[in-house]
Amino acid sequence: MAALPLALALLTVAWPPPTRPAQDPPIANVRLDPGTRRLVWDERGNVSEVQCSVDQDTPMRVRGGSGFCQLHVVPACRPSTFTVAVTRGPRYAASFRHPELAGDPSAAPERLSCWVHDWDLLTCRWTEGRTAPKGAQYRLFWEDLQSRQVWECERYGGTHGGTHDSTHFQCEFRDVGRGHPEELQRFLVNGTGVPCAEIFVELGAIERLDAPNVTGSCNQTWADVQWHMAARFQSDFSYEVVVHRGSRSEKHTVSGPSPAGSQMLLPNPGNLRVRVRALTFDQRFWSPWSPLKSFECEPARAQVWVPATLSALGTLAALALLLWTCSRSPAARRLLPPVPRVKDPLGGDFQGEREVALEAEDRPEDCLVAEVQVVGEA
Ligand SMILES: *[C@@H]1O[C@H](CO)[C@@H](O)[C@H](O)[C@H]1NC(C)=O
Ligand SMILES: *[C@@H]1O[C@H](CO)[C@@H](O)[C@H](O)[C@H]1NC(C)=O
Ligand SMILES: *[C@@H]1O[C@H](CO)[C@@H](O)[C@H](O)[C@H]1NC(C)=O
Ligand SMILES: *[C@@H]1O[C@H](CO)[C@@H](O)[C@H](O)[C@H]1NC(C)=O
Repeated sequence: MAALPLALALLTVAWPPPTRPAQDPPIANVRLDPGTRRLVWDERGNVSEVQCSVDQDTPMRVRGGSGFCQLHVVPACRPSTFTVAVTRGPRYAASFRHPELAGDPSAAPERLSCWVHDWDLLTCRWTEGRTAPKGAQYRLFWEDLQSRQVWECERYGGTHGGTHDSTHFQCEFRDVGRGHPEELQRFLVNGTGVPCAEIFVELGAIERLDAPNVTGSCNQTWADVQWHMAARFQSDFSYEVVVHRGSRSEKHTVSGPSPAGSQMLLPNPGNLRVRVRALTFDQRFWSPWSPLKSFECEPARAQVWVPATLSALGTLAALALLLWTCSRSPAARRLLPPVPRVKDPLGGDFQGEREVALEAEDRPEDCLVAEVQVVGEA
């Protein structure tokens, strides 16, 4: 029955100008079947190829004789132009507009947007149209375009940032699992005395990512950093990992697609702070950064051993030198250089570094008062 007004609204145009008499069109009775979302027509004569388009976007071609084009979406709020054209042989096109404009477009709700968050929730917000009547009551509907089920929103709210703001409206659905993730969803808001507004989206495309949950453990030699994404509709991510060691930081990219969780083994850990963020597979959205996660790893014995041994050897050598110089003149002792600071050969401001300093005091009467001072861990 809905097709009847559409058929009456049928507007036939020539595109390009018809080359056959207008009273003998190859296709006729172009109409929309909203139930099946099909653009339908009758063929008269030999039609070999037909092209359908909505608002001149993404035309689709079908063989003559099929009699319809399957549309993904049929807009309900904004008038669109549906065109069916014969593209082989004598050219001919027919088009009509649907739906008819109902009321003042500037009274329609604006900036309708919806997003999936916290795994299971879906929130939509919109603002009042500029010329919307004050006090208009709004309703929001969600339609799964695959199952064609329609749900009205359950939890309406008009507050924004804790303070009531009458020009903002929102509504929250629980259980986003009801929608088919691979199919477009329609969100439509309408109200008393205002035209409706709608958007068509896939759930995965409107899912707001939370920061990865970083966990892990470490021992003397390895830090095993793990993280996990709690995303409902997306599973392939790449990651950026920033590791802070003292004042230095290093950036790693774990390129994807990799699963919703991932892992990184960092050698020579010491004390680390790590944060991670995720990038969606289509590279369109970053998650927020995770909070900094600290890893307090014991210093690896292998790493301490090298400088400690060097320190011990250096101390022994210095003592031998000192004893040897004692038999010489005090002036010679003044030339005794301090053993240089022993650097961590593996690099880094690594704890357990030891510093050896020798102070040879100038006391000719007794060489043995020379102090050997081992400065402990900083
Ligand atoms: C229909 O048109 C096609 C090409 O436009 C042509 O090859 C075919 O012979 C025609 N068939 C009839 C029955 O006219
Ligand atoms: C809003 O849309 C719903 C679902 O399409 C419909 O049932 C309802 O009548 C509409 N309300 C208004 C005021 O247009
Ligand atoms: C992070 O992961 C750990 C271990 O799997 C879990 O115990 C914790 O509840 C998670 N935290 C969040 C905020 O998801
Ligand atoms: C240290 O951790 C790594 C990575 O988890 C593990 O493979 C290794 O066996 C551990 N070593 C010791 C001594 O526990």
